[in-house]
Amino acid sequence: MSVVEEQVEVDGDKLHQFVFRAVEEVGATLNAALVVMGDKLGLYRALAGAGPLSAVELARRAGVSERYVREWLNAQAAGGYLEYDAASGRYTLPPEQTVALTDDTSPAYLPGFFQIALGTVIDSPRITESARSGAGVGWHEHNHDVFEGCERFFRPGYHANLIPAWLPALDGVVEKLEAGAQVADIGCGHGSSTILMAQAYPRSTFEGFDYHEGSIATARQRAEEAGVADRVRFETTLASDTPGDGYDLVTMFDCLHDMGDPVGAASRVHKLLKPDGTWLIVEPMAGDRIEDNLNPVGRAYYGFSTFLCTPASLSQEVGLALGAQAGEARIGDVVAAGGFTRFRRAAETPFNLVFEARP
Ligand SMILES: C[S@@+](CC[C@H](N)C(=O)[O-])C[C@H]1O[C@@H](n2cnc3c(N)ncnc32)[C@H](O)[C@@H]1O
Repeated sequence: MSVVEEQVEVDGDKLHQFVFRAVEEVGATLNAALVVMGDKLGLYRALAGAGPLSAVELARRAGVSERYVREWLNAQAAGGYLEYDAASGRYTLPPEQTVALTDDTSPAYLPGFFQIALGTVIDSPRITESARSGAGVGWHEHNHDVFEGCERFFRPGYHANLIPAWLPALDGVVEKLEAGAQVADIGCGHGSSTILMAQAYPRSTFEGFDYHEGSIATARQRAEEAGVADRVRFETTLASDTPGDGYDLVTMFDCLHDMGDPVGAASRVHKLLKPDGTWLIVEPMAGDRIEDNLNPVGRAYYGFSTFLCTPASLSQEVGLALGAQAGEARIGDVVAAGGFTRFRRAAETPFNLVFEARP
């Protein structure tokens, strides 16, 4: 059989534009490591509110080698993260960048986003190999920056939204939490959502569950540090094996789509809840159709989905692999298959879909 190649005309201008766009993206790829470097070495914190600093002054303040700092400063200035004043040879971190790069209570805080992105890219050769056979790679098999980056990426959003907006958007849940409710936070990771809820509702008791033992150990430590260890218990278990019953509220933050058997997990949640209980499901923002997600948020999430979420689900039994851009319709199907009769979108942010499911 012979193959006839179709002649296609290449538009020189478009090719040129694409190559220059790629130059920007290579710079952005390296910038993930530069941001993590600036965060880990305390360079942003040393620049924050300090006014214009030279490389020597910043190096002294941060206790880092001046030659490295000089190169890092220029890379950051070229990317618009810092302002450079040629007359004085000094660099300034603008106020908006100061918030985004140093204020971990702000929803705009970014270092965790870069940390999980870089950690994900570092593990990518393993995923590339797995893609040949279709084998999965478990969440627990990643490096520390994935776990800590995940916690630091999501926590500011939970801090800004969970207590003020998401829980109040659920039918009658805040009243129960104020009076004293029993709550299970499944797939809790380092427990930031569990701890925030425990701090807000001292009459309620909270249990965080995750199959990753390392994350559960960190969650216990975080609860001690936050002073809520008396009301929060963490346990290592697969969602589908979560023990107990009689829960008023079960929560899942950004983890249902990572599970191999989300329908099995949904059925388990149905058994865990009281008949009038509530399941809160937070999932990445996504539309139901691919074309709805071809935007910057979808691009980042499809990237994480390729390297983290899809392989994580494929590594477990069933391996449904919903992906991080599953969208409302598919999540609704999973919830219904688990035996739930009511499902609605209760809230959303540019990054999150927030669902309420009732038995
Ligand atoms: C993207 S992380 C989110 C962690 C945490 N909920 C947060 O928002 O920071 C997904 C979590 O789901 C957990 N996970 C994945 N599959 C699971 C399963 N079948 N049962 C329980 N936890 C699971 C992982 O260990 C990981 O901690």
